[in-house]
Amino acid sequence: MPDRRIVVTRIPPGDVMHRLESVADVWLWEENRAIPRDLLLERCADATGLYCMLSERIDESFLASAPHLTVVSQMAVGVDNIDLDACTARGIPVGHTPDVLTETTADLAFGLLIAGARRFREASDLVRSDAWTQWEPDMLLGHDVHGSTLGIVGLGRIGTAVARRAAGFAMDVVYTQRTRDRRAEQELGCSHLPLDGVLRSADHIVVVCALTPETAGLIDDGAFARMKPSATLINVARGPIVETDALVRALTTGAIAAAALDVTDPEPLRADHPLLQLPNCLVLPHIGSASVTARADMARLAAENLLAAMDGMRMPHCANPAVYGG
Ligand code: DGY
Repeated sequence: MPDRRIVVTRIPPGDVMHRLESVADVWLWEENRAIPRDLLLERCADATGLYCMLSERIDESFLASAPHLTVVSQMAVGVDNIDLDACTARGIPVGHTPDVLTETTADLAFGLLIAGARRFREASDLVRSDAWTQWEPDMLLGHDVHGSTLGIVGLGRIGTAVARRAAGFAMDVVYTQRTRDRRAEQELGCSHLPLDGVLRSADHIVVVCALTPETAGLIDDGAFARMKPSATLINVARGPIVETDALVRALTTGAIAAAALDVTDPEPLRADHPLLQLPNCLVLPHIGSASVTARADMARLAAENLLAAMDGMRMPHCANPAVYGG
């Protein structure tokens, strides 16, 4: 067996461990929490492959302490926790897991949209606190989802899947992203607008773009000021795209009606965080891809990426194709 030493930072679902162990010497962090940084560095000192989660920070200092590493494979589609340029400079391909979680995450985004706009959190709290005493004509009035205008920030794979779902609710869809997608416009009947146009015209806004230096803090006080007071903000991408303090202000002052978040900044959010004191804010613990099938597929894909690279082949899903020269 070639000299292969793999570090795995969480127990992956399915039979992935068996596959990895059949071709390499594998060290697994078995605890039900993210691996401590110093232990990760120690374990990777002589590792040739890393199978990691989005909770690990793969940066210059990590790479400097892992000189034998030839491949990083992450069980997630988002790779904002990984310094791709630094990996590319060292000739290290980085694997990720697109496609297999697209529909699952779009399902959750749509669920959050309905839950936020129709005030599920407040309604559930009312029942659970035994405050539901009668039917009332004006109790918990929300805002319609059907027939409204949906704004999508980032029409990538998941954004497109959300737009497809919107057709079933007779919604108009407007989207913003750097490059226009004329094919999606034709197929889905959606319209491209600058961010300002999306913020001003949408009844509900789903943030589903990647976190990059350009998108960090994109939804700030200025953005909230341009949204409709009846709007719902949904974030299923990454927490730092929305400025948390600005969101608290927007929800408190009524600049927008509600927020429904699968991701937050910081993560995890502690129970005493201001966002969790707001009745019009629903927060889930980053479960966009958390279906049995999607997580098993992500685990398998991450293993395939890792093993392909270890066999000297191009990995099926590489987040830094520049490492292969394009
Ligand atoms: C991802 O894959 O990037 C999600 O955030 C977790 O599934």
